[in-house]
Amino acid sequence: MDKIVIHGGKKLVGEVMNSGSKNASLPIMAAALLSAEPSRIENVPDLRDVHTMVKLLRVLGAQVDYTNGVVEVYPGNAIKSNAPYDIVSTMRASVCVLGPLLTRLKEADVSIPGGCVIGARPIDLHIKGLEMLGADILIDHGFVKAKAPKGLRGADVYLGGNFGSSVLATANVLMAATLAKGTTYIEGAACEPELVDLAEFLIKMGAKIKGHGSHLIEIQGVKKLHGANHRVIPDRIEAGTFMVAGAMMNGNDILVRNCIIDHNHALIDKLKQSGALVLKSKSSIRLKRRGRLRPVDVTTLPYPGFPTDLQAQMMALMTLTPGISVITEKIYPDRFIHISELTRMGAKIFLEGSTAIVSGVGHLSGAPVMASDLRASAALLLAGLAAEGETEVNRIYHLDRGYEKIEEKLSALGAEIFRKKEESQKELAAVAL
Ligand code: EPU
Repeated sequence: MDKIVIHGGKKLVGEVMNSGSKNASLPIMAAALLSAEPSRIENVPDLRDVHTMVKLLRVLGAQVDYTNGVVEVYPGNAIKSNAPYDIVSTMRASVCVLGPLLTRLKEADVSIPGGCVIGARPIDLHIKGLEMLGADILIDHGFVKAKAPKGLRGADVYLGGNFGSSVLATANVLMAATLAKGTTYIEGAACEPELVDLAEFLIKMGAKIKGHGSHLIEIQGVKKLHGANHRVIPDRIEAGTFMVAGAMMNGNDILVRNCIIDHNHALIDKLKQSGALVLKSKSSIRLKRRGRLRPVDVTTLPYPGFPTDLQAQMMALMTLTPGISVITEKIYPDRFIHISELTRMGAKIFLEGSTAIVSGVGHLSGAPVMASDLRASAALLLAGLAAEGETEVNRIYHLDRGYEKIEEKLSALGAEIFRKKEESQKELAAVAL
């Protein structure tokens, strides 16, 4: 398995180009299945998860081309309803094909994506929402088997759960409702920008949607959708990760280009409170660290609250902040696997339920660490960049799921970072023998 090696302590200065959003691209690619006609989706980042979605769409019978950030999907009329375990189990966002397949084919058999290291991740809200639109759903041998022989019907669907609204459940019900008979109201809908981008794509396909971006979405079902062209929004989590990097070490000064500032207000507010200098312009943001870091408290919440997908990165910053900082995780109460790895680098973090109390140590020391999930990997990179000495981040395939050309981007900012390929490790082992 590839690993990333970092020689920490180098100042990060310069410009970085933010990629297109992973979490917007994936449901939008699935939404292309709603029409037989071709769709063209631009600004799609070159990531493992995107390649997994390409593979899934092909297995379902669509022709898919992915070249230079452009995905072209031609579903045609021979789409299959079965999304197999071996693909769905590798990426939770695969569950996004459930709504489109069910509404278009009147049946869908989609493997249950299962939990992951960030928590249990149930799909009860997806199922509840589709049942309210009239689907018969059975969980059978690890598959969601959904049928609606007479087609789906519009309904009032409440999608708030114990941890707030669900992004992908809202996406599934939204996509399913576009071809349902009558009007659907999604109450307690997720408001995340990725969901809004999905709605914009669906509207371009001919869907009738109002209220996206609010907790109440109205969808008037139509008989047919057509193919559409769309450019995916910039990735607010990647941008946020670079912003945290800019705020982490004295002398850092990073200009993040191609971002939507409105999507990151919760983070910007916390970084300002931490003493970072933030300069905003239309589609870029500059983050500078001058002087002492100040402790902040963060609670993750659905959008527009502080995103859970930036919690681990923020924790990396807190480990260097003198004093006590507190993180409360309200979306995934168990999303704290990174704590043990940050501790290996000298961080002092005490976990009490879903609250982490970080006692800043002022400096971290490089160490071999293990990435456990995508955002935890990003936190370990940030910690490694600021640490003294060498950090080796193992299992970086997680990172490749969500960060495009991350070592190239960080090297261009002045980081000493490189990837050790599996082959070269084998070669080294052979030399050692
Ligand atoms: N939940 C339920 N029932 C459901 C669905 C969700 O109880 O049927 C709970 C979850 O367990 C969690 C909360 O609701 O406690 C929110 O989960 P949500 O459904 O919103 O998560 P998701 O849609 O599966 C997306 C992103 C995640 C991101 C979350 C929260 C994609 C592909 N994934 O997941 O991104 O953390 O929203 O914002 O869009 C990542 O990119 O690293 C990542 C994990």
